[in-house]
Amino acid sequence: MKITVVGAGAVGASCAEYIAIKNFASEVVLLDIKEGFAEGKAMDLMQTATLNGFDTKITGVTNDYRATAGSDICVITSGIPRKPGMTREELIGINAGIVQNVSAALIEQSPETILVVVSNPMDTMTYLAHKVTGLPKNRIIGMGGALDSARFKYRLAEALDAPSSDIDGMVIGGHSDTGMIPLTRLATRSSVPVSEFLSTERLDEVREATKVGGATLTKLLGTSAWYAPGAAVSTLVQSIACDQKKMMPCSALLSGEYGLDDICIGVPVILGRNGIEKIVELDLDEKERTHLAESAEGVRKTNDLLA
Ligand code: LAC
Repeated sequence: MKITVVGAGAVGASCAEYIAIKNFASEVVLLDIKEGFAEGKAMDLMQTATLNGFDTKITGVTNDYRATAGSDICVITSGIPRKPGMTREELIGINAGIVQNVSAALIEQSPETILVVVSNPMDTMTYLAHKVTGLPKNRIIGMGGALDSARFKYRLAEALDAPSSDIDGMVIGGHSDTGMIPLTRLATRSSVPVSEFLSTERLDEVREATKVGGATLTKLLGTSAWYAPGAAVSTLVQSIACDQKKMMPCSALLSGEYGLDDICIGVPVILGRNGIEKIVELDLDEKERTHLAESAEGVRKTNDLLA
């Protein structure tokens, strides 16, 4: 199993690190445009192999896509991250050109690969990758929902003063401060709906804190987060690589599901060796359906900027 990660910045390097630590891939290629940067990160990570007990071989290359040839899965993290006060949508000007070139270069070397898009604005970049490559819709997956859901579960565990392992929950919709839809109605603590334990006001606070999860970290760190994004990518990649068929929300190209068409947005999917093996249609209530329609409008407005 060969996995390429494009972009050796904080998110890309964390992603490579978590993939290696989970020890399911034979090879990870880290690629960056900055001379020597990916080589350095790869070497540093390889020097943790005996300490962390993994056998994955990580190599770094400067912008040479030939080294990525034959990758089973390619992760695109390249582009600029947001600075405090910025929205993910504001990154489109620079990141669209980068994602366009990177996806074309990856497909040229690995025509059978599955693409995982992390660069922001993520839903629009996933849509762009579809337009550029024309790959079947199961083979391009946007990573956002898995991260947002992890942040939602963190906030729920905090509000409930519960261990993380008790919590289940999911965020669907666009990967943006206004577009995320934390599904509090379906969230549980050990199979019991969280609404049994938390007031409506407290649940509203959890929802709001989840939606600005990335922005809160950007303000604290001065740039966007990397540990949870890297861990979320590695979980998604492992489900594909090991054919685990995990269900998690990802940005998928919809053709009629949830009443939406020609858009990539976060919905629950089953991830296996063929990428998106199934889009799961939840029975949303009216309020959730309205939120999803509004969220889709937001994503479409950003997609329009591609033209
Ligand atoms: C975040 C970025 C990766 O939410 O979108 O941290």
